[in-house]
Amino acid sequence: MQTEMEDEAYSELTPIQKFFFGRSVFITGATGFVGKVLVEKLLRCCPGIGMLYLLMRPKRKRTAEERLDKLFQAELFSKSKRSASPFSKESASHRWRSSERQARDFGRTF
Ligand SMILES: NC(=O)c1ccc[n+]([C@@H]2O[C@H](COP(=O)([O-])OP(=O)(O)OC[C@H]3O[C@@H](n4cnc5c(N)ncnc54)[C@H](OP(=O)(O)O)[C@@H]3O)[C@@H](O)[C@H]2O)c1
Repeated sequence: MQTEMEDEAYSELTPIQKFFFGRSVFITGATGFVGKVLVEKLLRCCPGIGMLYLLMRPKRKRTAEERLDKLFQAELFSKSKRSASPFSKESASHRWRSSERQARDFGRTF
């Protein structure tokens, strides 16, 4: 159940933010130039977005999991890690840690 504050925050979203609200997105090419920017933009500008599923392959002796770690360590993501969501009581850094854990757990299921 949404709180009054969450309802108010939702009503202030742009049409694009409302489109992605609660939706999960499957992304290929997330390790590339365009893909990285897309992932960062969705995380930072679409509060309330559901899961992002990133298709990744092992490359140059790095596993997909190692590549995921490296991707999220990039300076590009520092701003989205700090930004708070009006839809989550968790701190931004806690949300990031749990998202990364979920991503790893999900990755292991394949
Ligand atoms: N960059 C631009 O300015 C620009 C402008 C207009 C259009 N585009 C188009 O946007 C797309 C992405 O461009 P980009 O600059 O981001 O390219 P990029 O940096 O070379 O990234 C390509 C991405 O696609 C993945 N990929 C390539 N072949 C794959 C395969 N066989 N299986 C799975 N994943 C594969 C790569 O994964 P790995 O890391 O595992 O190799 C990487 O994540 C391209 O189609 C490009 O033509 C780019």
